Amino acid sequence: MVSYKELGLVNTREMFEKAMAGKYAIPAFNFNNLEQMQAIIQAIVETKSPVILQVSSGARKYANQTLLRYMAQGAVEYAKELGCENPQICLHLDHGDTFELCKSCIDMGFSSVMIDGSHLPYEENIKLTKQVVEYAHQHDVTVEGELGVLAGVEDDVVAESHTYTRPEEVVDFVTRTGVDSLAISIGTSHGANKFTPEQCTRNEKGQLIPPPLRFDILEEIEKRIPGFPIVLHGSSSVPQDKVDTINQYGGKLKDAIGIPEDQLRRAASSAVCKINIDSDGRLAMTAAVRKVFHDSPAEFDPRKYLGPARDSLKELYKHKVNNVLGSNDKI
Ligand code: G3H
Ligand code: 13P
Ligand code: ZN
Repeated sequence: MVSYKELGLVNTREMFEKAMAGKYAIPAFNFNNLEQMQAIIQAIVETKSPVILQVSSGARKYANQTLLRYMAQGAVEYAKELGCENPQICLHLDHGDTFELCKSCIDMGFSSVMIDGSHLPYEENIKLTKQVVEYAHQHDVTVEGELGVLAGVEDDVVAESHTYTRPEEVVDFVTRTGVDSLAISIGTSHGANKFTPEQCTRNEKGQLIPPPLRFDILEEIEKRIPGFPIVLHGSSSVPQDKVDTINQYGGKLKDAIGIPEDQLRRAASSAVCKINIDSDGRLAMTAAVRKVFHDSPAEFDPRKYLGPARDSLKELYKHKVNNVLGSNDKI
């Protein structure tokens, strides 16, 4: 058993209290390799932002849970080396699906876990989430639960309201489970194709405009659990310049569309305290790597393409912190 406190990591409790009071959101960035980790830490040190480092099940399989944990431990030291005396870094399990997985992460030094029972029947979601909370809280680890299923691109986001979080369930869910934060479904979804063109309208320039997030549901939830930290998954904005670069240099991304940044800014100033961004980072890295491969086809030193990918990622993260989440200058 390793406590995250020995590693210099923090849980989300104080982070969320400050974010709620200051009307901003903590960035939750996924990582599974060195360059992503370097980009995240460089960005948060330069912007003076707290951060949640997220590890998905897929990341654990790809990179090994032990290596990722040591990387997070190294990240704390790296941030200090870059000049941040008191880095606020949380190591979080993204979309944990079993008690055993959450326990394993807690036992090896994670400071926060998500137990995603959103696909289960309501009572089963409560039972599983409560089990994780009981274990996590013994170790002062914070827990994120989820209510409502994120719409997939195949779903009709506008019409299929049954996938949205039901505000009438939130008081019962947070009270009976004891979770520290709640992920909700108000129209975001994972990946780079969040809406079909049919679900969008077009502006005068012919650009696709996605349907707005359901702020009415968010407001109803805030009324029922005032001051309770809310989490938004699936919050990449899918920058068109990255998509264009990828396609210009041989990629084939079709109808890629994300959540407009002004909507995320609005969410960040509400009870939304954590905003999850993964796909935008993937797009930034892929665009940079494709450009190097195109411009320098004789290059075969991975540092020559992973370096530019890392730089592009860092710029993207700084932009998110400064202009979307508002978590800059908070430490
Ligand atoms: O929510 C999903 C995250 O983007 C992580 O994705 O499971 O492919 O690592 P992944
Ligand atoms: P995106 O795919 O929109 O980046 O969402 C990431 C996420 O929610 C990770 O849990
Ligand atoms: Zn997610």
